[in-house]
Amino acid sequence: GLVNTREMFKRAVNGGWAVPAFNFNNLEQLQAIIKASATLKSPVILQVSKGARQYADPVLLRYLGAGAVAYAKELGCNYPEVALHLDHGDSFELCKSCVDNGFSSVMIDGSALPYEENIALTKKVVDYAHQYDVTVEGELGVLAGVEDEVSAEESHYTRPEEVIDFSKRSGVDSLAISIGTSHGAYKFKPEQCTRDPKTGRLIPPPLAFDILAEIEKKLPGFPIVLHGSSSVPQKYVDIINEYGGNLPDAVGIPEEQLRKAAKSAVCKINIDSDSRLAFTAGVRETLAKHPEYFDPRKYCGVARDYMFEMYEHKITEVLGSDNKL
Ligand code: G3H
Ligand code: 13P
Ligand code: NA
Ligand code: ZN
Repeated sequence: GLVNTREMFKRAVNGGWAVPAFNFNNLEQLQAIIKASATLKSPVILQVSKGARQYADPVLLRYLGAGAVAYAKELGCNYPEVALHLDHGDSFELCKSCVDNGFSSVMIDGSALPYEENIALTKKVVDYAHQYDVTVEGELGVLAGVEDEVSAEESHYTRPEEVIDFSKRSGVDSLAISIGTSHGAYKFKPEQCTRDPKTGRLIPPPLAFDILAEIEKKLPGFPIVLHGSSSVPQKYVDIINEYGGNLPDAVGIPEEQLRKAAKSAVCKINIDSDSRLAFTAGVRETLAKHPEYFDPRKYCGVARDYMFEMYEHKITEVLGSDNKL
């Protein structure tokens, strides 16, 4: 069946690699994630946001989790390690509902709350989840927001002086931190970047690896999580823009920085936007080239192939989680 994240994190931290946490909300994403991780013998975290859970349906998801493990075995992976994880849980009730409905791991994101309230809420979720051997991810520090201009101003890096107290008193199994990543396909504003004079493309500022190093020093061997870690591959942005889309100045985290993070105590790397981009590139390109298509399998099939290729690349070339089962 599904597993929690404890053992995979221990091996990832000790081995200097990171477990992929791929968000999904539809069948094609799930198939591509399982096919890539099972054939490459990589542990994997299937990650579901609150909105994705509603989209896919909570009851259906419970069986999809079990189905994912069976599918991995069918693909020849005899010992799959698949976790079904709630991403950015925003209340005790939501986390409890996921624990009660077959999730093996949950995140309670109290990072926007005052410090003591974050600890209290996180501890409440930990106390419940641990009764069922479900692991819990907490978060300290606020990622820059993409949706509204205001939240970006309120973002702040994780304070290394808080991490020992927070992890001890909350009892979390892993800790998400803020060191300069953010969610979505526009991780940095053009004014935060420099521009490649030849291509005109944005070159983002580096992540705060000094803060990560301080956190590691405070919590040696403790599993650290990096959200907002899509690279926003230019090839998918280009395809989307070529076939009717409009994503100007989309920019992500350069892969060499994620590679460096994966070698550290960062043992879970969250990727959602890159899957959305690969999917959309496949759909737009196929429909533009074949206006006569109306069978969703035609264009969703191409989208699935693009996502599969992207997941394979992350596992083997960025996170180093292949051949770990
Ligand atoms: O962290 C956010 C994830 O990318 C999920 O986003 O709430 O639009 O499903 P969502
Ligand atoms: P991206 O938007 O960079 O894919 O981040 C996903 C994420 O952190 C999900 O929790
Ligand atoms: Na690591
Ligand atoms: Zn996130």
